[in-house]
Amino acid sequence: MSAPFEPGERALLVDRKGRRYLITLKAADSFHTHEGFLSHDAIIGQTEGVRVSTSGGSSLVAYRPSYPEFVVKMPRGAQVIYPKDVGLILIEADIAPGAVVLEAGTGSGALTIALTRAVGPGGRVISYELREDFAVRARGNVEAFLGKVPDHLDLRQGNVTGGIPERGIDRVVLDLPEPWTVVPVAIESLRPGGIWCSYVPSIVQVSQTVEALRPAGFAEITTRESLVRTWHVEGAAVRPDHRMVAHTGFITTARLLAV
Ligand SMILES: C[S@@+](CC[C@H](N)C(=O)[O-])C[C@H]1O[C@@H](n2cnc3c(N)ncnc32)[C@H](O)[C@@H]1O
Repeated sequence: MSAPFEPGERALLVDRKGRRYLITLKAADSFHTHEGFLSHDAIIGQTEGVRVSTSGGSSLVAYRPSYPEFVVKMPRGAQVIYPKDVGLILIEADIAPGAVVLEAGTGSGALTIALTRAVGPGGRVISYELREDFAVRARGNVEAFLGKVPDHLDLRQGNVTGGIPERGIDRVVLDLPEPWTVVPVAIESLRPGGIWCSYVPSIVQVSQTVEALRPAGFAEITTRESLVRTWHVEGAAVRPDHRMVAHTGFITTARLLAV
C-alpha cells in the first residue's frame, strides 16, 4: 500500500499526450498548465496513480517520480548521465551493496544518486566536484530524491586529481572530461582487483584513457556503448519509435592488477 502524497514531496504529473511535469507539492498552491490550473490540494492526501483534473477539464496522473523520471527532469548545471548508461555502469562496474566507491565529478548528482542507492547503508560513496555551484546543485538534487544526504554519501568539493586520503577503495567511477588524469589517484586508492569505470562522450577521450590505464597496471580493459531503442506499440502499428538517442557516451571498465 503506497503512502499518500504529503506536502514537500515531488510529484510527477503526466498529461494525456505524455507530457511530464515535476512539481513540489505545497498546500494551497497550484500548478499552471496550457489547459488551466491544478490545485496541489487535489493531489496531497491521495495515493500515487491518482487521476486529477485541471480547471480546464484536462486530466493528469500523479506519480512519485522513479529514478529515471526524476533525473531527466531535475535541475541541472552539468549534463547528467542518461539512465540507460547509468544502468550499464552499475552492472559493469559491479556496484553492489557494501561497496566503497570513489566518484568524480558529481556534476548534477544523477549518477551519485544511483551509486548511493546501489551501495546501500553498508557501503560508501565519496564524490568529488570541482565547481562549488555544481556541488550545491547536486546536494539539492540528492536531498530532493533521497530525502536527505545519507550518512554513507560523502560529497566533497575539490579536484579529485589532488588525491584522496582513503585506500582500499572497491570502485572508481568517473564522468569528467579527462579521466586519464585520475589514473595516478586510482592506482593509489583502489584495492587490487578493484574496478575502474569511466564515461566519456568522445572516442578520442576513450583512446587517451585506455593508453593511460594499460601501463599503469590495469587489465581487462573494455569499452562499451549502450544503444536503447523504444518501440511504438498500438494496434497494428508495432514498430521501433522513429526517434532514438543515438549517441551519449562510451563506458570503459578495467581491473587493477596486484603489484
Ligand atoms: C558531465 S559532469 C558529471 C555529471 C554527473 N555524472 C551527473 O550524472 O550528474 C562532469 C563534472 O565533472 C566535474 N569535474 C571535471 N574535472 C574534475 C576534477 N578533476 N575533479 C572533480 N570534478 C571534476 C565538472 O565540474 C563537472 O561538474
